[in-house]
Amino acid sequence: MTEYKIEINLSSSRKQKPSFDSLEFGKNFTDHMFIVDYTRGIGWHDPRIVPYQPLTLDPACMVFHYGQTVFEGLKAYLTQEEEVLLFRPEKNMERLNRSNDRLCIPQIDEDLALSALKQLINVDREWIPNAPGTSLYIRPFVIATEPYLGVAPSGRYKFIIILSPVGAYYKEGINPVKIAVERQYVRAAIGGTGNAKTAGNYAGSLKAQEVAEKAGYSQVLWLDSKENHYIEEVGSMNIFFKINGEVVTPALNGSILEGVTRDSIIQLLKHWNVPVTERKISIDEIYQAQKDGILEEVFGTGTAAVISPVGEFFWQNEKLVVNGGKTGELSKKLYDTLTGIQLGTVPDPFGWTVKV
Ligand code: COI
Repeated sequence: MTEYKIEINLSSSRKQKPSFDSLEFGKNFTDHMFIVDYTRGIGWHDPRIVPYQPLTLDPACMVFHYGQTVFEGLKAYLTQEEEVLLFRPEKNMERLNRSNDRLCIPQIDEDLALSALKQLINVDREWIPNAPGTSLYIRPFVIATEPYLGVAPSGRYKFIIILSPVGAYYKEGINPVKIAVERQYVRAAIGGTGNAKTAGNYAGSLKAQEVAEKAGYSQVLWLDSKENHYIEEVGSMNIFFKINGEVVTPALNGSILEGVTRDSIIQLLKHWNVPVTERKISIDEIYQAQKDGILEEVFGTGTAAVISPVGEFFWQNEKLVVNGGKTGELSKKLYDTLTGIQLGTVPDPFGWTVKV
């Protein structure tokens, strides 16, 4: 891969690192960040690694008013041999450009983005945590920076990458979470931006999330916007059900986020000859499967969430317990295998990991 010329301006001072044994998700940031600017008529220019710092932006920047912004999430892992591995980073860069396309943001050179990411990680290598269940979360994002109040694509952008040493996303760690099926609000509609990783999808989800949290649930399970009947995804992850030996997950339909972990789990299950199907799944079917005692496991998948077993879901005033509220055998095997591949302790037959 081409080593792109990226200017590096190292910080003269270093921040105190948090204890890697008690990391929360997304609260600590490393010493440096990557930035590249876009100007209409010029293209992307001035790629640079600079000390992590606040941005100074015009209050009229279009991102503040019309939400023209996209983001990604991926992770770097420190192996026992002190090597640094990324997990399928090219998939994130491809998805970033698909999101860019949906939000009328210019395409980014994926090789430049990957080269910049590797150089940034090398600069902040000491921030990669090594405690069990930890990793370096990577947040690439693009914001529209032209000061203009007309509704139109911006003529200026910044593509930025920041890094955050993290522990588990949920306070439950790898223990089962509880989710509530959402009936009043919807996350996304076909033809909308549901399959793009853009801030508005997440801002629009907060209300339902807040209500669910007050009732003791970690996340909401979204249903489709048209019939309010078919399962789509959970707040920060895709969802899988094991029913009578078969694993099913909602088929991608334009309003569901195309998760990299989702795809990896489907490939792993196929590799193990576990029957797995992507199709429409109604909430009634899941309800009935639970009543019939054939809903064996439910788990979510995502970069931040990894594999997150679901021990209970709330639907129409009923608490439906899955697998006695415990982590299922398949969820555990998937978690161990996926994190093993990511950490280089389990063979990677798919060639998913990339050395930094
Ligand atoms: C991720 O899993 O990386 C995500 O982007 C979810 C995020 C909203 C925490």
